[in-house]
Amino acid sequence: MTGKLPVVAVTAELPGRAVEWLEDRCLVRLNSGVQITSESGLVDFIGPADAALTLIANPVTDRVLAACPNLRVVGNCAVGFDNIDLEAARRRGVWVTNTPDVLTEATADLTWGLILAVTRRLGESERYLRDGCFHGWALDMLLGSAIQGRQLGVVGFGRIGRAVARRAGGFGMSVAYSDVEEPECPDPPAVFMALEDLLSTSHVVTLHTPLNEGTRHLLDEARLRLMPPGAFLVNTARGPLVDEAALVRVLEEGRLGGAGLDVYEHEPAVQPGLLEREDVVLLPHIGSATVETRAAMAELAARNVLAVVSGEEPPTPVVRL
Ligand code: GLV
Repeated sequence: MTGKLPVVAVTAELPGRAVEWLEDRCLVRLNSGVQITSESGLVDFIGPADAALTLIANPVTDRVLAACPNLRVVGNCAVGFDNIDLEAARRRGVWVTNTPDVLTEATADLTWGLILAVTRRLGESERYLRDGCFHGWALDMLLGSAIQGRQLGVVGFGRIGRAVARRAGGFGMSVAYSDVEEPECPDPPAVFMALEDLLSTSHVVTLHTPLNEGTRHLLDEARLRLMPPGAFLVNTARGPLVDEAALVRVLEEGRLGGAGLDVYEHEPAVQPGLLEREDVVLLPHIGSATVETRAAMAELAARNVLAVVSGEEPPTPVVRL
């Protein structure tokens, strides 16, 4: 990267000023075609580039890193980084960065959108109206479940989990949380519980933990069955945190009140058993999808890449060299 301009492979068009900033100091190769979801497609696209700016659909595996030997940084335009083999990146001396903070509030808002949508049957109600079934107000029409006075269980008390918890007071909910560590003074104040206790006492459980080998199927069938009858599960984190087939089975038994999902185990595929159900609200992974947030994410990813190609520490590293 000395002498000539570094080459940055950007795997998708970016909002905001990210590409402009990169073009000021780098040669940018931009993919404006379909998303690159295969290792071979990613290798072909990145090739000899010095840096890559990636999305979560791009599988940055050890094979990809091995086949792109000039790569110094992978700037993921997402807070999650389960699409990247971190151990391989560390071993191969490649920085990995993500986009925390800038998407926290948008994702927390969307989580509450799902909590309200599933407990108050918003998707079902809208379909009812559009299907021409609304013939006037009725006392017993489309009754949902009250959330005030009940417990919200937050699994993963990081930035997004805490932002979700902060909003709970506005809806009159108490908050319990579980995490790998118990902070001395949780902010916002919340009761720490073991995961099993949280599951068995919460009216709404919301997931905010990263996906890794330790958290895959964190909510397996046994744990899903701990949830009280009529309770709700919301997931805006990563699909594989939940055993989706088990979730369908438990929903089919009518044990739960419903589920609100923004993410899926085999994304973008969705279990047919979920698609059929009225007590499930399904969104297409839009947790951080506001114009402002997506621009901020792309710009932070670009700042990370620019820092590394300039020989500086990136602002938000995941793999620090
Ligand atoms: C989106 O899922 C992200 O990780 O930012």
